[in-house]
Amino acid sequence: MRDHETSDNTESGIRTDQIEPTEGKLGVMIPGMGAVATTFISGVEAVRRGLAKSFGSLTQMGTIRLGKRTDGRSPKIKEFVPLADLNDLVFTGWDIFPDDMYAAACNAGVLDRALVDRIRPFLESIKPRKAVFDQNYVRKLAGPNVKTGKNKMDLAKQLRADICEFKKSSGASRFVMVWCGSTETFLRPAAVHESVKTFEKGLEENDENIAPSMIYAYAALSEGVPFANGAPNLTVDIPAMHELSRRNETPICGKDFKTGQTLVKTILAPGLKARMLGLSGWYSTNILGNRDGAVLDDPASFKTKEESKLGVLEHILQPQMYPELYGKISHKVCINYYPPRGDNKEGWDNIDVFGWLGYPMQIKVNFLCRDSILAAPIVLDLVLFLDLAQRSAGLRCLGIQEWLSFYFKSPMTAPGLYPEHDLFIQSMKLKNTLRHLRGETLITHLGLEYYEYYD
Ligand SMILES: NC(=O)c1ccc[n+]([C@@H]2O[C@H](COP(=O)([O-])OP(=O)(O)OC[C@H]3O[C@@H](n4cnc5c(N)ncnc54)[C@H](O)[C@@H]3O)[C@@H](O)[C@H]2O)c1
Repeated sequence: MRDHETSDNTESGIRTDQIEPTEGKLGVMIPGMGAVATTFISGVEAVRRGLAKSFGSLTQMGTIRLGKRTDGRSPKIKEFVPLADLNDLVFTGWDIFPDDMYAAACNAGVLDRALVDRIRPFLESIKPRKAVFDQNYVRKLAGPNVKTGKNKMDLAKQLRADICEFKKSSGASRFVMVWCGSTETFLRPAAVHESVKTFEKGLEENDENIAPSMIYAYAALSEGVPFANGAPNLTVDIPAMHELSRRNETPICGKDFKTGQTLVKTILAPGLKARMLGLSGWYSTNILGNRDGAVLDDPASFKTKEESKLGVLEHILQPQMYPELYGKISHKVCINYYPPRGDNKEGWDNIDVFGWLGYPMQIKVNFLCRDSILAAPIVLDLVLFLDLAQRSAGLRCLGIQEWLSFYFKSPMTAPGLYPEHDLFIQSMKLKNTLRHLRGETLITHLGLEYYEYYD
């Protein structure tokens, strides 16, 4: 029987034996220990103790089909590729507030107090280190737990010293860093971001185009620690960081966790396009009452988020190829800070579509989501997959890990390449990357071979 549904992978050259094993602990470093970070860390501990389940996490719940549909081979992803065990994760982080993870989780108010109380001593044992912070980049926040230094290079050195200290004290053998800090003010790529050399000069000269998140990323990559960017900040999406990532063979990915409204958008829009239904407008609005909402109340931080959220439709719908269907879309995104809702964001989408002969229709979506409940499993998957990338000879030399686009609103790509926003393409890309890593055939879904019976 010919095999049309899968494609040959013999040229991949990457085999299991080139993935280093998961021996020892994995140290997780988190700049920004607010709602997302505490929900992630508390959740990992709750799952470890058998108090809850890791729903929403592909690495923990997902399976992957191998070979033909008739082969019946669909192992769990965590059994197919060697991923760190949850019991081997150890944590540290930085925040401008000195609250330990118990106090921070209570303050965030995402998880039930009864659950948080059951793991209280564990959470109290994790205290944030002093942050690198500058209010010029997050205007709505101020806190006391902040480093001082003679310039930005000095601050980078202090972060590198923190990383080295954690490397020793944690006893971990491998490390990853995930930015869960606030959304910074909007920055455009500038001359100082062009290369590692210009960036290091900029650190010495306190260049204003270098935001705190970039100083963390620079420190991490300099210490060989892979970096994921959960916020829409520019951070590692600049040539200097691409260069440092490739030079040190340290993976990077970002940006902006794809959770509530944008997740739904990248599920619905590909469906409309697949059926060639037209779109005249998409109006999205949200109310959000957590600290993230307060930060986004500043127009300069909101601009960073808005750019990240607006990009998805254009890339999915390709108006240049389908001007009659998608050439005149009115796309609007609003976030309103509304304290009573806390982390329980509510999003409304009004989607104006048109079909056969131009007849208009409307779709209304009202998503009552929980922001950090959607974000925490993304953090877990990124931690485990970035560690996998770091242990895989064929992936770590690439720098940008585009196969992790699945998790981001504004996926990073090689320069000049447009990002894939369609969740289903992203999912296929991720799973095919895993198959490729293990020398399994890639799945194309052609599947003609099942019908050769009728010849
Ligand atoms: N929850 C979601 O669904 C979601 C989705 C996409 C992106 N994000 C992004 O993830 C990030 C975290 O979200 P959150 O809800 O946990 O927000 P949060 O406000 O609860 O937590 C962010 C924390 O970062 C800290 N911080 C800010 N600047 C810092 C710095 N320079 N160094 C160290 N700490 C710093 C703040 O003090 C705060 O405690 C935000 O940027 C948010 O936009 C969240």
